[in-house]
Amino acid sequence: MSDSPIKLRRSALYVPASNEKALAKARDLSCDAVIFDLEDSAAPEEKATARERLRKLLSSDMRPSREIIIRINPLSSEWGTEDLLAARAMRPDGILLPKVEGPDDILAADEALDEADAPPSLKLWAMMETSRSIVNAAPIAELGRNPAARLACLVAGVNDLVKETRIAPLRENLRPWLMQIVLAGRAAGIDVLAGVTNNFRDMEVFARDCSDARSMGFDGKTLIHPAQIYPANAIFAPSSEELAEARRIVEAFSKPENQEKNVVALNGRMMERLHLEQARALIRRAQAVEELEDRDD
Ligand code: COA
Ligand code: MG
Repeated sequence: MSDSPIKLRRSALYVPASNEKALAKARDLSCDAVIFDLEDSAAPEEKATARERLRKLLSSDMRPSREIIIRINPLSSEWGTEDLLAARAMRPDGILLPKVEGPDDILAADEALDEADAPPSLKLWAMMETSRSIVNAAPIAELGRNPAARLACLVAGVNDLVKETRIAPLRENLRPWLMQIVLAGRAAGIDVLAGVTNNFRDMEVFARDCSDARSMGFDGKTLIHPAQIYPANAIFAPSSEELAEARRIVEAFSKPENQEKNVVALNGRMMERLHLEQARALIRRAQAVEELEDRDD
């Protein structure tokens, strides 16, 4: 497990660039990432205005200090290339590519960014929302192992997946595909974010979706409404029970009699060094959350 700084992506809120009110709110929201959307939430006749509004916002002092991602239209669409170039000029942390079907879509965007002299720090995120993206999850994610390809994060897009595959939108139907996204992301060492919960009024449904996504291994969740930020931040952060258990494991291995041991017993359970690594990673993540929250206070 690496000691590189932890980038928290517990909550990534879609903010429609076509909605002036929503744009004006973005700076003061406490989500870990903001995904400004030029795609699904902007109607064809709104696309150009949305892009221009976003450009204005991001060059003003209303620019959020969070991780900034811009979701563009597909490069194959009439808006895609212009979106990509405009987004690059807005200096986001990442560009989210919709309707990815295979590794070539990532490579094409990467090439276009290289041609536009984009810095290597500008990352690509991929929407996993077509049936081909699930079939090709491993080769898509694999590009994340090559820093030159810019791929940093996979985002599940459940509404499009349901539409395209014609399944009933039930969690048991989606689960095998979501787990493929998680596995592909982990194999490549990149982050994976869960899809949205359309019901933004029922917070019980939302909390259950977050817990479910966390248990599947997702690093965070994409959101559609500001009311979803606080619960997502809480559920994707280590809980106080998990933190206490992690500290007990670290303490057990640091006892003089255990320092050379690979396996110790803790409250009737076997603990190996891999559990110590997991415990240390969880403590680092909890520290990252605490630092971020201190910064926000
Ligand atoms: N980002 C920023 N602000 C948002 C927001 C968002 N995603 N969603 C709602 N708000 C703001 C509203 O503008 C409103 O502001 P106001 O109090 O100044 O009027 C406030 O939060 C409360 O909103 P509310 O009245 O509860 O909801 P709504 O009916 O205005 O909006 C949606 C509901 C679903 C239309 C809206 O949340 C939305 O557009 N979400 C994102 C959709 C999207 O991006 N889809 C594509 C990706 S899946
Ligand atoms: Mg979509």
